[in-house]
Amino acid sequence: MMLSQLLAFATLVLFSAATAWKSPTGYNGPQPGYGHGPQRVAPKVLIIGLYSDEGEAWHHIPEFDLLAHNITVPGLSSIFPQAHCTADGQICQVVGGEGEINAANSIASVIQSHYFDLRKTYFLVAGVAGVNPEVAGVGSVTFARFLTQPDLEYEFDAREIPSNWTTGYVPQGSTQPGEYPSEIYGTECYEVNTKLRDLAIGFAKTAKLNDTADAAAFRATYAGYAPYAAGAQGPKVVACDVATADTYVSGRLLSEAWQNYTTLITNGKGLYCTTAQEDNAIAEAVLRGNLAGLTDFSRLIVMRTASDFDRQAPGTNPQVNLFTGYAGYEPALANIYHAGVKVVEGIVTHWESKFAAGIKPDNYVGDILGSLGGQPDYGPGSIFGGKGAFIDGAKSTTVRKVRPRRRYIG
Ligand SMILES: *[C@@H]1O[C@H](CO)[C@@H](O)[C@H](O)[C@H]1NC(C)=O
Ligand SMILES: *[C@@H]1O[C@H](CO)[C@@H](O)[C@H](O)[C@H]1NC(C)=O
Ligand SMILES: *[C@@H]1O[C@H](CO)[C@@H](O)[C@H](O)[C@H]1NC(C)=O
Ligand SMILES: *[C@@H]1O[C@H](CO)[C@@H](O)[C@H](O)[C@H]1NC(C)=O
Repeated sequence: MMLSQLLAFATLVLFSAATAWKSPTGYNGPQPGYGHGPQRVAPKVLIIGLYSDEGEAWHHIPEFDLLAHNITVPGLSSIFPQAHCTADGQICQVVGGEGEINAANSIASVIQSHYFDLRKTYFLVAGVAGVNPEVAGVGSVTFARFLTQPDLEYEFDAREIPSNWTTGYVPQGSTQPGEYPSEIYGTECYEVNTKLRDLAIGFAKTAKLNDTADAAAFRATYAGYAPYAAGAQGPKVVACDVATADTYVSGRLLSEAWQNYTTLITNGKGLYCTTAQEDNAIAEAVLRGNLAGLTDFSRLIVMRTASDFDRQAPGTNPQVNLFTGYAGYEPALANIYHAGVKVVEGIVTHWESKFAAGIKPDNYVGDILGSLGGQPDYGPGSIFGGKGAFIDGAKSTTVRKVRPRRRYIG
């Protein structure tokens, strides 16, 4: 090798060492397709909205400018192809697109993207939702512990169900409503870090929440019926759980079916209050990111603000509720920002002293399978062994790797 070649080689080696992208999973080869080693952004908080209004709720605010730095991320939806970040990269935002498929693909793409290092990032899901009037009123801000997926069930049309059934939804692998599902796909239920959730609630409670006269008048239509007393009250910060379903339901009976599924799948621990279309999809993307060494599932916060009710007010019907009941939308959108910005600021302000190292959970965190280790405190137990393990704890429950054979009844 000639001296000049040697120098060139040494320069190349040094240059590579200085700019090399270090994969947390050990892969350290060239990064395919994305140009020449883009600088990786390591945000302290990644805000996740699902559509334009939820995204724009954070734009043109006095606290920080998310539109200072746009990053086109391969794999994001064609409607929302760019992630947004503050100039210093401390706070970023992605708009995932609506529904489970959009959300799962978008969040997985951001996590896998070589533009980001999300190993220490707090994920803040910040979207609107339907709310159970037994738990809270429109305009309220909720933070979940459990994320359930009630649309992952068998479904019969209500007109073709046996006369002694209360719903057309039957847990998978079961033969009637209310039986514990005997076939588990893995996305039925997630539990997030309650210590982090409670810190987020503490921050959110320092916000002055928005309300409007229209929203108040709408809530008042729930006031006459005692079980809906909470729904008639003004905006509050509430700890309660979210049900994810692609199907956007309205009405007391379907909402009650979602509520019952939440009770069933969380072994009675969950408090069903909001309906959304993405949260389990996001959770699965973050969980798989954790398994790949790219994210920390215990840094996931799920905030939903109540824009409408999941069921009708007394004296109206589910169609009226779905098609006209949106007086809560304005304060719900406003409160994504009012409550959410306190959470973001709380994390960024207390980064060194508290959040950089992570908030060690004192509850089980993860999915129903126990994928991240530990023993789920709901469901039939971890499939990965240990005391009370899935297979031993519930012999009739199996993890389906293939599509189950259809069962016929009657
Ligand atoms: C980022 O994108 C938004 C539109 O989504 C645009 O308004 C803004 O000017 C862009 N920022 C920069 C720095 O180009
Ligand atoms: C409905 O009736 C059938 C037939 O009598 C019975 O086997 C089943 O347990 C009942 N289901 C419910 C949910 O009550
Ligand atoms: C939900 O569960 C309760 C208690 O078991 C039951 O009374 C109710 O009918 C169920 N609702 C639906 C819609 O299945
Ligand atoms: C609530 O938000 C709406 C819409 O952004 C705004 O018009 C209204 O002034 C706000 N009300 C309060 C009390 O902040």
